[in-house]
Amino acid sequence: MRPRVYVTRMIPSQGLDLLGAECEVEVNPLDRVLARDELLARVRGRHGVLGLLTDRIDAEFFDAADCLRGYANYAVGYDNIDLAEATRRGVPVSNTPGVLTEATAECAWALLFAVARRVAESDRVMRSGRWQGWGPLQLIGADVRGRTLGIVGAGRIGTAMALMSRGFDMKVLYANASGRANAVLEAELGARLAPFETLLAESDFVSIHTPLTPETRHLFDARAFRAMKPTAYVINTARGPVINEADLVQALKSGEIAGAGLDVYEFEPATAGGLCELENAVLLPHVGSATVSARQGMSVLAARNLLAMLRGERPETCLNPEVFKP
Ligand code: GLV
Ligand code: GLV
Repeated sequence: MRPRVYVTRMIPSQGLDLLGAECEVEVNPLDRVLARDELLARVRGRHGVLGLLTDRIDAEFFDAADCLRGYANYAVGYDNIDLAEATRRGVPVSNTPGVLTEATAECAWALLFAVARRVAESDRVMRSGRWQGWGPLQLIGADVRGRTLGIVGAGRIGTAMALMSRGFDMKVLYANASGRANAVLEAELGARLAPFETLLAESDFVSIHTPLTPETRHLFDARAFRAMKPTAYVINTARGPVINEADLVQALKSGEIAGAGLDVYEFEPATAGGLCELENAVLLPHVGSATVSARQGMSVLAARNLLAMLRGERPETCLNPEVFKP
């Protein structure tokens, strides 16, 4: 009997083709997030589920998915998954690291330049018909070259983002939850591991690349913004709740920091009151991994992971490999 697989939303076809060769695959036909009761009803009787960062994978999900042999997350972040619960039940779980590293790092740079050089705001001026021609005092932004870049969370994406600063001769600081040195950043950029407070105080651009954990939730709050320079910018392509978004709106309004470039939000798809009215915030709708190669790579990796789990094998990028130990 071919295993039965459910995919909670349409993804690029490459992974679906791989799954289709070995499994009975059903894909959510609606291009929207399934409501909770829909998700729980669809996963009953499935041997494998390929789901998204917008699906909550917890005890209730595992109760509903009564034949589950594996869950493949179509994302690198896995704060949507109760991993301890999966492990307790012996269900392997995978994510999609690596394939979206460069795309997400490039997105952080897009936000950095957009907010520093007021790209979105300037675009709005052009479209409004209000532009009257070149002016020496118009829309003056921040310099990037030679400035200090602070990387919070120097893992795969944080490291890639920092390495891309080479063309701009930046001084690079980084902070890690582990406190471990990043040999690549130190060798390639002469980057310096710094305490979080030092990084906040010295950076002109602070780029967030940490996973969302209980320790990083609201790592950026009113106190953190006060510790930053008034000329500094914060960039977030990681997870929204790492920032207390109401505190960020206050900091942007009061001039405590100069601007923010955001791809992720605390309560997606909602945004904090006042955020959308601020000219010094550039706002993207969680598109960090939205390039052709990254999304195809995620599709293929998630499918390969799920096929391995359906065969009872350890997937390439497993989040709880201990379930395979005898
Ligand atoms: C996207 O946000 C991801 O975690 O892959
Ligand atoms: C600006 O357009 C310049 O030529 O300096």
